[in-house]
Amino acid sequence: MKKLLFLTALFIISGCDNSLKISNPTINPLPDSGEVNETKISNLITQRCTSCHSSKTVASDGIRFDSYQDMVSKARRIKREVVDFKSMPPNPSEITDEERALIGKWAEQQNK
Ligand code: HEC
Repeated sequence: MKKLLFLTALFIISGCDNSLKISNPTINPLPDSGEVNETKISNLITQRCTSCHSSKTVASDGIRFDSYQDMVSKARRIKREVVDFKSMPPNPSEITDEERALIGKWAEQQNK
């Protein structure tokens, strides 16, 4: 009974403190100012995609994002999967809507 009270108290305390809340622990949104540039897109794709698409991994579907040039050369396919179909990354909770939008904006600028 004491243990139950303690747990209840703990629950109430943590419930009241917003700083303890983590909205989605699986995803860490990357800082964003809305502008796209090489460093930002390169970091974003590396973080969200290279666990599966890299020459250091099995490279799903033969697609590798080892360098920024790899990303640029596949910009159109990246946009199709990430923005149009939302089929990549396979687990949709691993990317934010803002990040999809950034990738879309960048891909359009690449004109590839
Ligand atoms: C968990 C592993 C995983 C992650 C993370 C991942 N992919 Fe994929 N990707 C795959 C697999 C598996 C395939 C092949 C099967 C398929 O098309 O679903 C694929 C296929 C693709 C294709 C080719 C699809 C086609 O039909 O032309 C593209 C482009 C792609 N991924 C881009 C991305 C991008 C960009 C990201 C990051 C936002 C990403 N992927 C993240 C596993 C992953």
